[in-house]
Amino acid sequence: MDDLTRDRIAAMDEERLARIEALPKCELHLHFEGAAPPAFIRGLAAEKKVDLSKIFNSDGSYAYRDFTHFLSVYEAATSVLQSPEDFARLTTAVLEESAGNGVIYSETFLSPDFCGGGDVSAWRDYLAAIREAAEAAERSHGIILRGVVTCIRHFGPEKAKAAALCAAETQGDWLTGFGMAGAEEMGKQRDFAYSFDMAREAGLRLTSHACEWRGPQEVVDALTDLRVERIGHGVRAIADPRVVEMLAEREITLEVCPGSNVFLGVFPALKDHPIQRFREAGVKVTVSTDDPPFFHTTMRKEYRDLALTFGWDEEVFTEINRTAMQAAFCDAATREAVLKQLDAAL
Ligand code: ADE
Ligand code: ZN
Repeated sequence: MDDLTRDRIAAMDEERLARIEALPKCELHLHFEGAAPPAFIRGLAAEKKVDLSKIFNSDGSYAYRDFTHFLSVYEAATSVLQSPEDFARLTTAVLEESAGNGVIYSETFLSPDFCGGGDVSAWRDYLAAIREAAEAAERSHGIILRGVVTCIRHFGPEKAKAAALCAAETQGDWLTGFGMAGAEEMGKQRDFAYSFDMAREAGLRLTSHACEWRGPQEVVDALTDLRVERIGHGVRAIADPRVVEMLAEREITLEVCPGSNVFLGVFPALKDHPIQRFREAGVKVTVSTDDPPFFHTTMRKEYRDLALTFGWDEEVFTEINRTAMQAAFCDAATREAVLKQLDAAL
């Protein structure tokens, strides 16, 4: 960090930080079940008489040891979300929380695997319930939500095809994207090419988790084998300047989740996170929370921590939000309306 940045951070008073935290925010990378407040999941578990005590710490937070364990705790928590009505309640809880953190536009990852097991007709019912609750939240809180179906890498390519079919059958102005999450160490991006081709042909926009855990080649694979236009995380690509250059040249937007990366140990501390280096290299970066209660974060906290660590001011965060909206999987009218709100807040 240079002296100028150090001085700017030292001069950043609480009033300034409060203004940064209060900015309207756009989030592109939010796993829907991963955004479930632990108290909400505990409440559902009690209603359904499911014993989930093993997945909670004594203070009520989610308990897991590492990323692999996180994925299994995530799936255990998700097991009590059993009906469209449960997902409607989750939608309300998640969007109230997001709106309370100043989020005005959000894209969320939805998995048919957790919503009817990949059956198209069941998925339609889940999607209708989520969308109805999201539209109610838009009316009451002003937050706009769009859905991105994600297949789960460690569930394998066959399950991914069922997820892609669900996405293709329901794509439109609300369900606008297709992507992949899950354990990156399993298989290759290209194992899922059939599903991504199906989604692209149906008119869906594409993103994939890559380079959260594996090296830079994973980003190259996602771009060439799946032809995605955004990358979930992408942060380990920093290790190869040629891949960083490729990201900049092709104007690929990274859905960066700094708090998640630090909490999971991808980088030892926020000061070591490459988000600023990507910006300096001309790569389009955005800021998201990933699975906020799992990583003890919120969008407000992300902004505060980034301001304190890198000295970013309101202009930088507004630029990042504008980048998010340029890369958002929504229609032009929605994009313009959100961009206007961003400008009005400056
Ligand atoms: N599913 C939920 N959170 C995830 C993450 N950070 N990486 C991959 N899959 C996920
Ligand atoms: Zn993610």
